[in-house]
Amino acid sequence: MLEQDIQEILFSEEQLKTRVAEIAREIERDYQGKEVMLISVLRGSFIFMADLCRAIDLPCTLDFMSVSSYGSGTTSSGQVQITKDLSEDITGRHIIVVEDILDSGNTLSYLLKILEHRHPASIRLCTLLDKPDRRVKPVEVHYSGFTIPDAFVVGYGLDYAEKYRNLPYIGILKPQVYGG
Ligand code: IMP
Ligand code: MG
Repeated sequence: MLEQDIQEILFSEEQLKTRVAEIAREIERDYQGKEVMLISVLRGSFIFMADLCRAIDLPCTLDFMSVSSYGSGTTSSGQVQITKDLSEDITGRHIIVVEDILDSGNTLSYLLKILEHRHPASIRLCTLLDKPDRRVKPVEVHYSGFTIPDAFVVGYGLDYAEKYRNLPYIGILKPQVYGG
């Protein structure tokens, strides 16, 4: 069973639900009278995106993009590539980039730069998890769910080697699973 590979549960389903609702209230307050476009960075943020967008009571459109920076390991390569671009034009739109986790910052600093060049009306970052200890590139975060210690976490969309995304909670993966 998947649970055997988990060292410790950090955030239960209930805690995640509560925090997602709080972030949604912050976004509603900040974007009153505006239409927002949520951009989910695949694949890690797909569950957070699905829950967050349903908690936001504002006119809202969604789009998805995919970047690769990690392969199947647990440390960032620093090399970032767009593997699936947006379907929509973001010019003049109020963009919120929705990420699962901000770690070294390599992925997001690159991604935000690319999106800024497309002239959105505004752009903000919403990350469910923030691991500040491992930051290499500075990234401005507007909405953050939880700050976590330097451990490899899985569940609620986050994977190790494409597995564990379907765990309903977020937990620390046992180091022996990835040979750490
Ligand atoms: P960064 O470029 O180092 O900030 O890495 C960002 C990406 O690495 C995230 O979007 C995740 O896909 C992945 N990542 C970083 N830390 C973890 C973790 O603890 N568990 C699962 N994926 C992670
Ligand atoms: Mg990700």
